[in-house]
Amino acid sequence: MDNIWAALLGYVLGSIPFGLILTRVAGLGDVRNIGSGNIGATNVLRTGNKGLAAATLLLDLFKGFLAVFLTWRLFPEAAGFAAVGAVIGHCFPLWLKFRGGKGVATLAGVCFGLAWPIGAFYALAWLGMLAIWRFSSLAGMTAAVAAPVAAYLTGWPQFVPFLAVIAALILWLHRANIGRLKNGTEPKVGGSNA
Ligand code: G3P
Repeated sequence: MDNIWAALLGYVLGSIPFGLILTRVAGLGDVRNIGSGNIGATNVLRTGNKGLAAATLLLDLFKGFLAVFLTWRLFPEAAGFAAVGAVIGHCFPLWLKFRGGKGVATLAGVCFGLAWPIGAFYALAWLGMLAIWRFSSLAGMTAAVAAPVAAYLTGWPQFVPFLAVIAALILWLHRANIGRLKNGTEPKVGGSNA
């Protein structure tokens, strides 16, 4: 039963659509009508408001962290379920007819909530790839795939299956980005066609 409560707690927190809320409050309209239609920070950046994109990134990260942090205290054995619930909540929010984001920032918070070494590994992979290639999607996918590896290497093998499921989901959600990366049309962060 704890596993179900943890997953639900994760889902509810993860499904708070900060990107949509912030862009609406800022009078920028519905972020789902621009760029990729994603509600995440990368697409909020396409509104041209860097501050709002940074706030979306931090809040999406924070909700993932909070979901796992609270679960450690309420249902200590069920942190992995909260992790999956939070990312699913972000990607498929009930309140937005299940059309949300791609889970990369929320997973960052989840990783830090599970264990800081996993979070550090994730952040390094994410920011490192972003600095080198400037493709947000490629950086996010690399970090997502790195997460279960990081859990294994840093002594948290119990989280490997949960993080592997999340990585598979994030790769699937990026299938259009993968197509654009292959044919050279994926926009770079800060690029003219971002
Ligand atoms: O975190 C989302 C990012 O990986 C891709 O976003 O809007 O370029 O599809 P987007």
